Amino acid sequence: METKSAGPGAFVHFDLSRVPSPCFVVDEVAVRRNLAMLKDVGDRSGAQMLLALKAFSMWSLADVVGEYLDGVCASGLWEARLAREHYHGHLTTYCPAYKAQDLPEILRLSDSVIFNSPDQIGRFADLIKAARARGETFDIGLRLNPEHSEAEVAKYDPCQRGSRLGFPVSQLRSEHLDGVDGLHIHALCEQGFEPLQRIWASLEPRLHGLLGGLKWLNLGGGHHITRADYRTDDLVALLRDIAQRYGVQVYLEPGEAIALDAGILVGEILDTFENGLNVAITDISATCHMPDVIEAPYRPAMLDEAEDGVTMRIGGPSCLAGDIIGDYGFAVRPQPGQRIAFLDQAHYSMVKTNTFNGVPLPAIALWNSDTDALRLVRQFDYTAFRDRLS
Ligand SMILES: Cc1ncc(COP(=O)(O)O)c(C=O)c1O
Repeated sequence: METKSAGPGAFVHFDLSRVPSPCFVVDEVAVRRNLAMLKDVGDRSGAQMLLALKAFSMWSLADVVGEYLDGVCASGLWEARLAREHYHGHLTTYCPAYKAQDLPEILRLSDSVIFNSPDQIGRFADLIKAARARGETFDIGLRLNPEHSEAEVAKYDPCQRGSRLGFPVSQLRSEHLDGVDGLHIHALCEQGFEPLQRIWASLEPRLHGLLGGLKWLNLGGGHHITRADYRTDDLVALLRDIAQRYGVQVYLEPGEAIALDAGILVGEILDTFENGLNVAITDISATCHMPDVIEAPYRPAMLDEAEDGVTMRIGGPSCLAGDIIGDYGFAVRPQPGQRIAFLDQAHYSMVKTNTFNGVPLPAIALWNSDTDALRLVRQFDYTAFRDRLS
């Protein structure tokens, strides 16, 4: 895959030595810019916008998110708890399969609980009934697999053959919607308007006659709405049309779009040497701090990368031979102690870090590129590693 970063933005002015290393630095101004764009889509279309916590759950910005969006969506019990502890507004929870022991709390916390199949809804009918008897109010949703692939990579395609994500629309019958308040569809990954339009065009005729009794339709995430080339007006028109035609409340669950180009990961060169290639070891680990670099895989853009000069193969401090971030150009050979930064690391990195090899977790800092105010929100010490083990 390719990085979707549009460039460093205000981070060209950020002095990398102001934070400990490694450290995520998130620009509140950039987050607000993204949130304002999403709010505008919500205001113009009538759709409700929910932050997908799985992508970006830097909860020190929860109040900021609440100023713009209608709520959040969670992937299970712990994100639902985080949502209710820190975030505001509507909470939708979807998990491919729930555990009976988690479900009562999820039902209590959430406004909507989305199930992966009519079977699961049936299996948990007693728990749902008991929660309602206790006075809890929540909607029940069903995730559909639209069976229309648009994702560029199979790993990120919930419509791939044998997918476990969502109930295949070809199997859907009206009786499956008994007790269901809304439908959920998520089949995009970092995509523009056109793939959504095609999915809807293929799905709508298959839902004919089934949308009438429903309260809402959730079109999931993967919409790269805050990218400069996104066809926002067309999205607004589509969402308005769906809402009006079927009398449903439409929801979107963008994650990445909220934090797109809003954060960097700062690190430090620890050593360099030559081994057929120029090699540099940093305190940023692909496997521990940016696992999508290996998993997707993709090559993150580096701040101030030089076109001419020396190319260095940059990798992390772990034992994994494949802990390689990529090959990057430097105007002059970097020296130990030199700071570097990778762009667009606010989403799907901070939420995925781990301490393999006892590699320290990056600190988290909040910067305001308008005022230049910098706050070190969180630093992790040895106990963060120790206390996940026993
Ligand atoms: C069900 C669901 N909703 C929302 C999202 C958020 O997607 P994105 O961060 O790409 O916008 C995802 C991502 O995998 C998802 O699985």
